[in-house]
Amino acid sequence: MHQARPPAWNTLERHVKKLKTLRIRDLFREDPKRFETFHVEAAGLLLDISKNLLTEKTLGLLIKLADERYLDDWIVKMFSGSRINITENRPVLHTALRNRTGAPVYVDGKDVMPAVTAVLAKMRSFTDTVRSGSWRGFTGEPITDIVTIGIGGSHLGPAMVTEALTPYARRDLRMHFVSNIDGTHIAETLRSLQPGRTLFIVASKTFTTLETMTNAATARAWFLEHGGTENTIARHFVALSTNTDAVRAFGIDPANMFEFWDWVGGRYSVWSAIGLPVALAIGFDRFEEFLAGAHAMDEHFKTTPFRHNMPVLLALVGILNINFFGYTSHAILPYDQYLRRLPAYLQQLEMESNGKQVQRDGNPVSYATAPIIWGEPGTDGQHAFYQLLHQGTLIVPADFIVPVKSHNPVGEHHRLLLSNFFAQTQALMNGKTLDEVTEELRRSGVAESIIEQLAPHRVFPGNRPSNSIMFEKLDPFTLGALLALYEHKVFVQGVIWNICSFDQWGVQLGKDLATKIYPDLIGPEPVAAYDSSTNGLIAYYKRLRES
Ligand code: F6P
Repeated sequence: MHQARPPAWNTLERHVKKLKTLRIRDLFREDPKRFETFHVEAAGLLLDISKNLLTEKTLGLLIKLADERYLDDWIVKMFSGSRINITENRPVLHTALRNRTGAPVYVDGKDVMPAVTAVLAKMRSFTDTVRSGSWRGFTGEPITDIVTIGIGGSHLGPAMVTEALTPYARRDLRMHFVSNIDGTHIAETLRSLQPGRTLFIVASKTFTTLETMTNAATARAWFLEHGGTENTIARHFVALSTNTDAVRAFGIDPANMFEFWDWVGGRYSVWSAIGLPVALAIGFDRFEEFLAGAHAMDEHFKTTPFRHNMPVLLALVGILNINFFGYTSHAILPYDQYLRRLPAYLQQLEMESNGKQVQRDGNPVSYATAPIIWGEPGTDGQHAFYQLLHQGTLIVPADFIVPVKSHNPVGEHHRLLLSNFFAQTQALMNGKTLDEVTEELRRSGVAESIIEQLAPHRVFPGNRPSNSIMFEKLDPFTLGALLALYEHKVFVQGVIWNICSFDQWGVQLGKDLATKIYPDLIGPEPVAAYDSSTNGLIAYYKRLRES
């Protein structure tokens, strides 16, 4: 049984029918102040949604839809620790991790802030001792290489943020990240390391994830085979987790554990102990700036009316594109090489949160939910997939993310980068008509017969939507605000879709089947227990592995 959709949904469907007869470029022609009307600034970021096919009336209806989904109540519930992660019966309080107000945050009547503050203090102290060189390995040398072993939210956040903030990192403290269970990942990483100068961070909320525990065990064996001993493990292995028993059982002293809590979702955990690699790379003061940026976006999100609320606007424009224009993918195009891994981070944040088809009450949804999130930095993407973005049959809304200033002001590079960013969003929106193409070819002296043949191939349909997010410089505060922007965007879209954004049951089946298949791969005997494809592929594996 499909629940009735909110009234504004049906009104929007009628409104969008009319909207589809318009072109974005005409909306700009009609309103020279369109940019002023449809951009907002908050927490050091500027968001421009004017290059979407929308009007003030569109936004009004989208906000009405948010109101009919009681978005303001949901915001209060999340920040106040209600158990809105209904299938795991947990609060969702990543915002408490960066709560700079000093105000308490209660879970089961207990203020969690003292524990949060205590872990941050422990992270600061540890970070200082490692970075100062006073933390020594079993050879008496300081740490020069840090290997973080984790996957998903225990990997993507630390790895992406550490890379994004490279300008603030020590170059003599090398950060390595191992996530894949493919032995290549750990083997290639260990190849160049000296155990006496290497610190391993085992990052796992559950401390049961197969990839992480397998890689951690291999790292531990490597350490013991290369000079380490059981009683020097404590100087070379620390854990980031909620599971003290499992940490102890693995052989890491709980004194070397940085804890976080079950009300922190994995893909929302970079602000917690999971962010220790970031603090080690950039120093704890800078890590606190990162937290402060996210907190600034939290405050903006909590207190700003929806029409000028940056996460709400980004979310609602997404709802318009996904649910009313039917666009099923969304590109993240950072025009900043340091943000190379941002699309991968946002893939988990968005697709693991909202890649769902069941409403909170268990009824199936009757509308689309999360789109495919993908992307690559500009300008590389322009030489890979922009052909499709401009002239393909699929329309892909895109977020362009751009710093005004570069950390590396080399010659004209940054101005040339920005000229490409400005040009691309303009070209996607304006396109180029057949008349414009024909006129251009004629002016360049191409023969009429050739023009007739060439012109259709050179037409750009345009009317392709994009958002632009700009900021002064990619620093810890700005990055914190940017990630919090997307966290709250995902939350708002989950509320509109009436789904639980904070569990991830969809990852379970594959894990369970892998556990079942693994023993069947060990011996040489043929396997007949599964479908003929699985049986046949296993047979091929067993045949070739013997060759
Ligand atoms: O992908 C499933 C998942 O549970 C993610 O949500 C999580 O970030 C990742 O696996 C790793 O989990 P853990 O931090 O418990 O090792």
